[in-house]
Order: sequence, then structure tokens, then C-alpha cells
Amino acid sequence: MKNRRKRGGLSGGDVVVSWRRFFRFVSLFVFSFVLFSALFIFLGKIRPVVRSSVNAVLRGSVPAVKVVTIHEAVEFPDQTLIFLKYPPYSRLFTKEDLFCVFSDVNDSSKLFKELPYAVETGDYGRHIVRCSAVPRGNTVSLAVSRWTVDNSNLQVGLTHRWDWLVYDAVIDDDNSTVVFVKGLNLRPGKVADVSRYECVYGWDFTKPKLLLRAQVISAAQEIVRCKTPLSLTVLDGPRKAQSQPVKVSVRIKGSGMLPSVAHPIKRPGRVKDTKTFETCVCTMTRNAANVLREWVMYHAGIGVQRWFIYDNNSDDDIVSEIKNLENRGYNISRHFWPWIKTQEAGFANCVIRAKSDCDWVAFIDVDEFFYIPSGQTLTDVIRNHTTTPSSSGEIGEIRTPCHSFGPSGLSDPPRGGVTAAYTCRMALPERHKSIIRPESLNATLINVVHHFHLKEGFAFADVDKGMMVINHYKYQVWDIFKEKFKRRVATYVADWQNEENVGSKDRAPGLGTRPVEPSDWAERFCEVRDIGLRDWVLDNFRDRKTQRLVWEREARRVEDEVIVQMGSWADKRVGRKRKKQLKAQ
Ligand SMILES: *[C@@H]1O[C@H](CO)[C@@H](O)[C@H](O)[C@H]1NC(C)=O
Ligand SMILES: *[C@@H]1O[C@H](CO)[C@@H](O)[C@H](O)[C@H]1NC(C)=O
Ligand SMILES: *[C@@H]1O[C@H](CO)[C@@H](O)[C@H](O)[C@H]1NC(C)=O
Ligand SMILES: *[C@@H]1O[C@H](CO)[C@@H](O)[C@H](O)[C@H]1NC(C)=O
Ligand SMILES: *[C@@H]1O[C@H](CO)[C@@H](O)[C@H](O)[C@H]1NC(C)=O
Ligand SMILES: *[C@@H]1O[C@H](CO)[C@@H](O)[C@H](O)[C@H]1NC(C)=O
Repeated sequence: MKNRRKRGGLSGGDVVVSWRRFFRFVSLFVFSFVLFSALFIFLGKIRPVVRSSVNAVLRGSVPAVKVVTIHEAVEFPDQTLIFLKYPPYSRLFTKEDLFCVFSDVNDSSKLFKELPYAVETGDYGRHIVRCSAVPRGNTVSLAVSRWTVDNSNLQVGLTHRWDWLVYDAVIDDDNSTVVFVKGLNLRPGKVADVSRYECVYGWDFTKPKLLLRAQVISAAQEIVRCKTPLSLTVLDGPRKAQSQPVKVSVRIKGSGMLPSVAHPIKRPGRVKDTKTFETCVCTMTRNAANVLREWVMYHAGIGVQRWFIYDNNSDDDIVSEIKNLENRGYNISRHFWPWIKTQEAGFANCVIRAKSDCDWVAFIDVDEFFYIPSGQTLTDVIRNHTTTPSSSGEIGEIRTPCHSFGPSGLSDPPRGGVTAAYTCRMALPERHKSIIRPESLNATLINVVHHFHLKEGFAFADVDKGMMVINHYKYQVWDIFKEKFKRRVATYVADWQNEENVGSKDRAPGLGTRPVEPSDWAERFCEVRDIGLRDWVLDNFRDRKTQRLVWEREARRVEDEVIVQMGSWADKRVGRKRKKQLKAQ
């Protein structure tokens, strides 16, 4: 009461009190500011900090980030991957935090900076920064743009070549380690002599005394399977955050050890007798953002429950497209897979990943769609082939023939997706794709053109093409076809631009070796009109009210896309501006 009256008055005494209060208030303010700043620095170690003007005050003090180090790098023909090593509880970098810095070997003042293509998160939560390829006579390092202090760049230590490297490793459910290797040059489809190799485990490969050796169980193509040393804690799951996980490499006896960036990962074993999913799909792709929606939604409609996307350096919107599908309830995950000519290895890697959750795993591309004319689900068809015992063994693989569709007279990419648009195909089925049971695979994990070698006692079954086929939208409108065939992915398949092998089935017949549109492209590969899947899709995936297919983007979405595009365009502009500023420095 008294206070209030005093405050309300205008006497001299009141003014004195107010000044004292003002002083107290100011000290409180200063104290809070100091406290807040201290907290800011402290918290900065734990979580990403929102960019603010306080940064300007802190610039130069560089609290937590300096201890982040570059573990190692791998050089590819068209990019450099830089593996970051974070101390426990440190703040993680985003793409916006970093610059790739290239500097002249002889004159370190000659340097240029560039935004990374992306910062990827690998297994174990490890961060991988994607920079351009290192120009000749240069070295690469990273600059932390947010905290930049001169010469505080993160230096790259060991740099490996992509084609002489152990790049991935997984612990299988029998506790053996499956090691993925580039550089062994083993013959396709053949088993190699295991006595020539051994696996090597350790934390520091420069100290041979601290390494554990292990026997090789099988070696074929680019996969080596080893007995995991029992003393290794990898079997008990990922180690605690404080300690570095162990690495594994392969030694060629009498020749030497390959460099390695691979930490063997223990996937959670099977806990229940029944697996979570009956049917899953693995695919390897690049820049599939535009087609993913239809492909995932359609296959969900016929019974697929889980999708594993092995992403080979996409630079489109695939990350947000996958996020979007996830938010709609589809169980889909993306796995960064930058390794060159490793489609077979990627499939084997995916099988082990899917093993504990999936009864069956299908391997198809994003332009391939299972078509079941009877309207049964994929799981029904699989059951149909596995319930009757076969004389040659239990069924471990189901092979589905593929029909190759042509441009069907179209010249522009269809808005409603491929299934409802392409209706003309070649008469004869071409090769086939497999659906496999992970337990039935031979330990070698050999697979050639989509077929895995099975264990003894297992057999494959061919699906009758009246029961199920794959509609392969192989020869789409020219603009799309052109991109696809510029990038052939399999290890043991020739490049289409290569003059050798011109008669190969992987080529578009009559196209030759140059990517120039033939005048009659739209009419090619059209021998049989086939509207089966189109009609089925129109009956089952069309919204009654809007008459649009469920995956078709609404008109509103087009606006969204424009905004998104403008956003990324603005992003690029900011990037360019920053580049310019840096160059000017
Ligand atoms: C760096 O210096 C060495 C020796 O002086 C020379 O051979 C080399 O070509 C130089 N490299 C570049 C990129 O200038
Ligand atoms: C694999 O290792 C784990 C943990 O050491 C152990 O509990 C399990 O029995 C092993 N499994 C096999 C098949 O050896
Ligand atoms: C998706 O599947 C994985 C197993 O493959 C499971 O661990 C995860 O919880 C699932 N996610 C959702 C959202 O259901
Ligand atoms: C990934 O793409 C690169 C080109 O960027 C290609 O050389 C490589 O073979 C591809 N890898 C796979 C596994 O498809
Ligand atoms: C498999 O499908 C065919 C054709 O639909 C049917 O005749 C047959 O009985 C089925 N077999 C089993 C084991 O379900
Ligand atoms: C795996 O394949 C190899 C070679 O093809 C064969 O020798 C071996 O017996 C197979 N393993 C099993 C468990 O069937």
C-alpha cells in the first residue's frame, strides 16, 4: 500500500527511491545479461545455437567447436567426402555452418571457399561433409563459417581413394562381420580363396601391435565375411558415446592392408518370433524425388510395409520427399550410399539391414511396379508360392518377369505419374527381379543382376506372368529416359556410352551410343497395348471427389513448389553472395 502511494506521488523522496530502484534494475539487467551470455556459451556446446547478434560478441572466442576434428576423407572423381569426429555432447554442424576450403599446396595463401553439397548423417550418427573434388595441387579443409577465426580451419588428415578402401561393415545375425570392400577386384559371381585374406580390427591402424586379426569365412565379389573376435565389444551393440567405435579392415596376405572408414555396426537382432513386416522393398536410386510418391503409395496399396532407399548422391528434394512420406505414415528410410559401382554390395547391405524386420525383401527400381491382375496383395502372391513345398527345397527367392514399357506416344512427362500414363510395351518379358527371404541367402551374399545365391536346401520359384509381373517404365518420354541411361549403376554392367557391348540387353535397341533423341522416339517399343495396371490404378487410387490420383499433387501444391523453388533459389543466391564476400576477403 505504502509503496504504491509513494510511487504514485511526485515528491523529492520518491525520486530518490526511484533512482535506487533504477540502479538495482540496471545491475540486475547487467547480471542477467552476463548470466545469459554464460549460459549461451555453455549451452552452445550442447545444442545448435540460433544465429543472433550475440554471435558477433562471441566471434573470436570460439568455445566448443574447435575440438571437432576431421577424422579422414575419401576422394572420388567428382566429390570429396569428409568424415567429422565430434567430441561427446558437442554441437553438430549443419550445411550452413561449413565451407569447404581448397588451398594451393605450395602457396597456402591461394585459397578458395565453397559451400558443401550436403552434410550427411551416416550410421552411428557420424557426419559426412560432401565437398567438390579437390583440384590438382590443392588440399581441402573445412572452415566453420559461424565461428570463423583465421587459420582455424579443420585440417584433413588421412585421405583415402574411393577405389582402394573398406567402406562399410555390418555385424550379421550370426555375429560374423560382413565387410564391404573396394579394390579387391574379385571376379563376379565367383567365390575367392579365403586363405588369402584376413580381417583386422582396431582403433588405430597405424599401430599394428594394437590390432586384432580374424579369420575370413567367405570372400566374393566385393564382400568379405569374417569371424568377429569374441573379445570385441561391438557384439554388445554400439559403444558409449565417449569412446570411438572400433574399425575393421581387410589385409591381403603378403600385400598389405586396405585403408578403412568402416565401423562394424550391430543391428538389433530379432526379438520376436514373428517379424514386424511381411514385405519390404530395397532400392538404390539417385534423384528420385519426383517419382517416389507414386512408387511408395502404389506399393503400399498392394501390401509393401517398409521401404529402404539407398541414395547415391541425390541433389534433388529427396530428403524432404522422404520426410513427407514418413509424416504420412509410411515407414521409409534413406541411407546415404555414395560408393561407386556398388549396386550388388548395396543390395547385400540392405538385406542385412532388413533381416530382423522383414520376412521378404523385394529389390526393384523406382520405375518398376508390381502388377497383380487378380487384385491380390504381394503377400498373397508370395504365400501362394511358398506354402506348397517344392521338390528342390524351401522357397527362398521368387522371381517376377518384367514387361518393358515404351513412351506410349507421349512426349511430355505425365502429370499423374507413370502407371496411369504408359500403356504400350514390348511383347516379350525381359529378365526378372527377385523377392528374397533374407535367411535363405548364401553366406557369400553373391548377387548378380538381381539374383542372390541361395543356401543349400533353398530354391527359387518363378511367378507365372498371368499372376504377377513387373511393369518396368523403362523407355519413358525422351527427357527422362536420357537422364536415366546416362547413369548406369551396376558394377558389372557396361556403360551405355561405351562403344563395346553395343548389342547388350541393357541398351535401348537401336539407340546407339549418343544421347540424341530419335525422331520417332515416342512411338518406339510399342508392340502390345497393355492397359491392365492403368485401369487398376484408376479404379483403386483415384479420389472420387477430385478425380485425381492419390499421389497426384493438388493445384495448391504447385504453388508450394514454386515457393520452395524460390526458396532454394534464394538460398543459392545467398550462397553466391557469401562466396563473393569470401573471395573479396
Ligand atoms: C609445387 O612446387 C613443386 C616444387 O617446387 C612443383 O613441382 C609443383 O608443380 C608445384 N605445384 C603446384 C600446384 O604449383
Ligand atoms: C552373438 O553375440 C551376442 C552378444 O555377445 C550373444 O549374446 C549371442 O548369443 C551371439 N549369437 C550367436 C549366434 O553366436
Ligand atoms: C519403421 O521400421 C523400423 C524397423 O525397420 C522400426 O524400428 C521403426 O520404429 C518403424 N518406424 C515407424 C514410424 O513405425
Ligand atoms: C553413384 O553415382 C555415381 C555418379 O555420381 C556413379 O559413378 C556410381 O556408379 C553410382 N553408384 C551406384 C552404386 O549406383
Ligand atoms: C495360387 O494361386 C492360384 C491362382 O490364383 C490358385 O489356383 C492356387 O490355388 C493358389 N495356391 C495356393 C497354395 O494358394
Ligand atoms: C554358398 O555358396 C558356395 C559357392 O557357391 C558353396 O560352396 C557353399 O556350400 C554355399 N553355402 C551354403 C551354406 O549353402
